[in-house]
Amino acid sequence: MSLKQEPEKRKRKSNFSRRGFLQGVGVTSGVLTTGVLETPTEAQTAKVSGPGEVPITLQINGKPYKTSVEPRATLLDTLRHRLELTAAKRVCDRGTCGACTMIVDGKVMYSCTVLAIDAQGRQIQTLEGISPAGKPHAVSKAFVANDAQQCGYCTPGFVVAAKGFLDRNPNPTYEEVKTGLGGNLCRCGTYMGVRRAVLDAAKELNGGKNA
Ligand code: FES
Ligand code: FES
Repeated sequence: MSLKQEPEKRKRKSNFSRRGFLQGVGVTSGVLTTGVLETPTEAQTAKVSGPGEVPITLQINGKPYKTSVEPRATLLDTLRHRLELTAAKRVCDRGTCGACTMIVDGKVMYSCTVLAIDAQGRQIQTLEGISPAGKPHAVSKAFVANDAQQCGYCTPGFVVAAKGFLDRNPNPTYEEVKTGLGGNLCRCGTYMGVRRAVLDAAKELNGGKNA
């Protein structure tokens, strides 16, 4: 066989195309990332968005916000870079520190692990909504009273996580607070102050009583 015939032979043997491969990977990644495509039938009929920007509407702190983002944009980056809601911080950007905590449909979530397009139709609560200017939430006030911050980078995430925790468990013990806020990290080590603040906030919200 001559060398000239080799490329032709390779072409006939392979049905592989780069475009087909990339399309396949795109659908598979969608299933893994969002967790909303549960059956093969749904996955096969899933609408493919992007790769350019797509218009979205997010319901944040009770108000609709319209913008457009690439489908790969996280909820955290969308709020910080497109909607000027910067209370949630971007620290690890991989779901380990909790600085980006938001409450989505009543659940405390790392917003750096949620795609903005998947957050459409959900109720999103951020620190801006929990503690509007001039009206600090009981948790925010207790953080100040207990000196529960140093550099402050973790504080917005802790306050939101604590608010979500107290919504579910309004009268916690110290051990429950410790476990309940285990998803948030503080590099300055303010954990004792944070836990005292959450217990004080619970007391205030319960009219002066603790567990
Ligand atoms: S920035 Fe999201 S968990 Fe750290
Ligand atoms: S106060 Fe600095 S990281 Fe928590």
